[in-house]
Amino acid sequence: VSVGVAKIQAIRWDGRRLSLLDQTLLPGSEVWLTPSGAAEVAEAIARLAVRGAPNIGIAAAYGVALELSERPSLGALEEACDVLIASRPTAVNLAWAVERVRAACLGAGPSTLASAARGEAQKIHAAEDAASLAMGALGADWLAARDVRTVLTHCNTGALATGGRGSALGLAITLAERVEGVRVIACETRPLLQGARLTAWELERLGIPFSLIVDGAAAGLLARGAADAVVVGCDRVAANGDTANKVGTYAHALAAAAASVPFVVAGPTSTVDLSTPDGEAIVIEERDASEVTSLAGLGIAPPGTPVINPAFDVTPAALISALVTERGIASPVDVETVGALVAP
Ligand code: MRU
Repeated sequence: VSVGVAKIQAIRWDGRRLSLLDQTLLPGSEVWLTPSGAAEVAEAIARLAVRGAPNIGIAAAYGVALELSERPSLGALEEACDVLIASRPTAVNLAWAVERVRAACLGAGPSTLASAARGEAQKIHAAEDAASLAMGALGADWLAARDVRTVLTHCNTGALATGGRGSALGLAITLAERVEGVRVIACETRPLLQGARLTAWELERLGIPFSLIVDGAAAGLLARGAADAVVVGCDRVAANGDTANKVGTYAHALAAAAASVPFVVAGPTSTVDLSTPDGEAIVIEERDASEVTSLAGLGIAPPGTPVINPAFDVTPAALISALVTERGIASPVDVETVGALVAP
């Protein structure tokens, strides 16, 4: 397959101005937001206009820079960091990126706060772009060595979610460039349909053959041999390798184990959080009930229906065949192999 060259980007920075592709409106319309400060970036992150673990880190880093360009003071720095870190709790990339920008600013001194923030945000963005390409190459090698052609994936982990071409989707894209016959099975990803709205949009533009399925179809298809591997992204990898990702991921991992299909997690090392010992310690974001009781603005449950709406779940390390990062692959996934990947 010849993979389309159309460059998909969700975040643009022209040196002064940040533009975010509003992902809540895809695939219907392509609208770019131009937030004016940290609070507006935080709002865009909270409502998933910008989303995906690496990209919320990149957007938040630029959010601090935007704020300091308007109000270059230590007070503004602290306020910006606080509002951005509070916008979503699970993906560690967000706090990681904000803390990096904060440290760069504090190291720079009061007169160069804004330029230090801009410089650090651009460094984070460039490093995440490079990490995506590197993990794509490593992961494609791993998949090709196991004759993987059909990849089942969950949520959206392409260029809309990360720097570069993606994490899990980046592996599939790189594999499709290298070998014939690569196909993707994309789970729709209820409740907010990142698979149906975003992954399908990206794959269609890239010219990679794919089929969309409802989340509930995945286990049965895996049991019948419809996919050679499950490849997903991650929002936080704990020190022992337990991994939080979009809700529904754990079910795919159980189904993959039952069907003896490899289950691969891909993400940059900025998603690995050694200060979280295990999956139990990962804070899982709870989102609004309306995401479950309505679909595209239409009510689908009786008014007042009680809801439980965790945005993520945790897959235990023992169910993960390989963790692919830009620095290398951990397999098996455990406290030693994960620690070795992120060691300085
Ligand atoms: O709620 P979202 O859409 O931000 O969730 C995104 C995911 O769960 C992705 O799988 C994860 O961030 C990895 S993206 C490289």
